[in-house]
Amino acid sequence: MRRRGSEFRRPSRRRIPNVFLLTLCGLLILLFIVLLSRENRNPTSRSVYNKRSYQHEKFIEGLNITDEMLSPNSVTRQLNDQISLAKAFLVIAKESNNLQFAWDLSAQIRNSQVLLSNAALRRTPLTTTESETAIRDMALLLFQAQQFHYDSATMIMRLKAKIQGLEEQVHSITEKSSKYGQIAAEEVPKSLYCLGVRLTSEWSKNANLQKKFKEKTASKLEDNNAYHFCIFSDNILATSVVVNSTATNSKNPDKVVFHLITDKVNYAAMRAWFTINNFKGVTVNVQKIEDFHWLNASYVPVLKQLQDSETQNYYFSGNGGDKQTPIKFRNPKYLSMLNHLRFYIPEVFPSLKKVVFLDDDVVVQKDLSDLFSIDMNGNVNGAVETCMETFHRYHKYLNYSHPLIREHFDPDACGWAFGMNVFDLVEWRRRNVTGIYHYWQEKNVDRTLWKLGTLPPGLLTFYGLTEPLDPSWHVLGLGYTNVDPKLIEKGAVLHYNGNSKPWLKIGMEKYKSLWDKYVDYRHPLLQQCNVH
Ligand SMILES: *[C@@H]1O[C@H](CO)[C@@H](O)[C@H](O)[C@H]1NC(C)=O
Ligand SMILES: *[C@@H]1O[C@H](CO)[C@@H](O)[C@H](O)[C@H]1NC(C)=O
Ligand SMILES: *[C@@H]1O[C@H](CO)[C@@H](O)[C@H](O)[C@H]1NC(C)=O
Ligand SMILES: *[C@@H]1O[C@H](CO)[C@@H](O)[C@H](O)[C@H]1NC(C)=O
Ligand SMILES: *[C@@H]1O[C@H](CO)[C@@H](O)[C@H](O)[C@H]1NC(C)=O
Repeated sequence: MRRRGSEFRRPSRRRIPNVFLLTLCGLLILLFIVLLSRENRNPTSRSVYNKRSYQHEKFIEGLNITDEMLSPNSVTRQLNDQISLAKAFLVIAKESNNLQFAWDLSAQIRNSQVLLSNAALRRTPLTTTESETAIRDMALLLFQAQQFHYDSATMIMRLKAKIQGLEEQVHSITEKSSKYGQIAAEEVPKSLYCLGVRLTSEWSKNANLQKKFKEKTASKLEDNNAYHFCIFSDNILATSVVVNSTATNSKNPDKVVFHLITDKVNYAAMRAWFTINNFKGVTVNVQKIEDFHWLNASYVPVLKQLQDSETQNYYFSGNGGDKQTPIKFRNPKYLSMLNHLRFYIPEVFPSLKKVVFLDDDVVVQKDLSDLFSIDMNGNVNGAVETCMETFHRYHKYLNYSHPLIREHFDPDACGWAFGMNVFDLVEWRRRNVTGIYHYWQEKNVDRTLWKLGTLPPGLLTFYGLTEPLDPSWHVLGLGYTNVDPKLIEKGAVLHYNGNSKPWLKIGMEKYKSLWDKYVDYRHPLLQQCNVH
């Protein structure tokens, strides 16, 4: 269902075997040259050994290979080969969350290893009869592994992905541990909280501001010739950077319209900030999520699912008064609903045809108007794929032990990123994509398809409906890893995904200045709140 041709989903599959073959050829030629040059250097030895035995000797010297292992009839050799193949499949099976199969494999590996070590202890080769069952059982498993698409190209990619994943982990761990002391010492969001409070009081004091806001946002909100951007956020400073950087780099700021959706806590403050400050004349509208009455538990599965635990939470924290602490300020319920709002964009903007969705942890470096004329080939979501550099494929995010997932989704389909997405709302409505999302969200009531977050349901919802964009549109990883400086320079939208957000003290210093450029730290309100 809803799939594109295979050339779209697995562009790298056909390429890798070529690379593999080329490398193999290269290695063979190299080996040949090495052998030739060796022989030329020792012309006398040539008469002593014929070429074959010379080669043989060399191998044995280097690799500890016995005659037993080279014999085509050796059972030991067969078992050994099977074991090494099985070990590779074991890694992949674990990576793919196929735990049952991984367990079967490792049991069989142990079984074969016991046979081998018994034979080694008694110092006689294994016989066919005693190893027959083990070899057959293992062959069955290996065959099964091939049925799971664990072919060599996939295998190489997955092993690489594993290595890369480990590298990422190491990075983020060192990053975290080196800065951890600082987070503990300074409660950073305090200054952001202060900013919110001051802006809110400014808004309620100053009737002029409210009037000005109304005038500013009048005409273009529903004009489909304008460039519409949406941000769903409760972070004023971060949102300000996205708006400011987009405006600063826009060739046509008067055609740019920002639709900011926040929660009721930040609503007045957001409106105040974007009225006090002018960003090259771009239009900015602010709405609050509580005003969307259609966003209720009878329509939205996530809300229904949250309800039980949320009601408990509600009584637990006694969350009644208006005096919010910084922690409640980032109430996970709102946070998560603001996060899930991305699946309701056509409902949020009923008269718009195309919207660019931006996360609040990005900074824009280029003019983005060309995004609105990209040919989407009938797709709904224009996004940058993430499987090329970081090998993020579907099997990494979803539970492939679940029959529903296995049935519908290619485990090697390329993942893509939220954060800068072009959404064709006409196609979205026509294809009832929100309905698809509801279907999968309801199937996941027991959290067995995926655990957390919006990317996994996004991958399911937009499967076969995603148009890959040029990677320079959206450069990822600035919040957790080292990014190629050339990519950063070329990137239109830089994304601080990961823990090291630029507004936190754990932000990575080297990427912070790219974001800081768009904050006016001399602004009196930021100074009063100690934002620096
Ligand atoms: C070969 O085997 C011997 C003992 O069997 C061991 O000492 C030696 O390190 C091995 N050499 C290599 C290259 O594995
Ligand atoms: C919930 O949303 C649906 C449509 O999305 C709407 O018809 C219904 O009136 C809403 N219920 C409440 C209580 O607002
Ligand atoms: C969209 O999908 C949902 C759930 O799959 C379904 O209930 C609804 O009727 C569909 N709407 C349209 C307009 O097809
Ligand atoms: C994956 O799906 C299977 C089958 O429904 C389920 O038994 C298992 O618990 C799921 N795994 C996770 C980690 O949720
Ligand atoms: C917006 O960015 C510009 C350019 O970097 C900067 O000079 C300005 O101070 C910023 N404005 C605000 C309100 O942050």
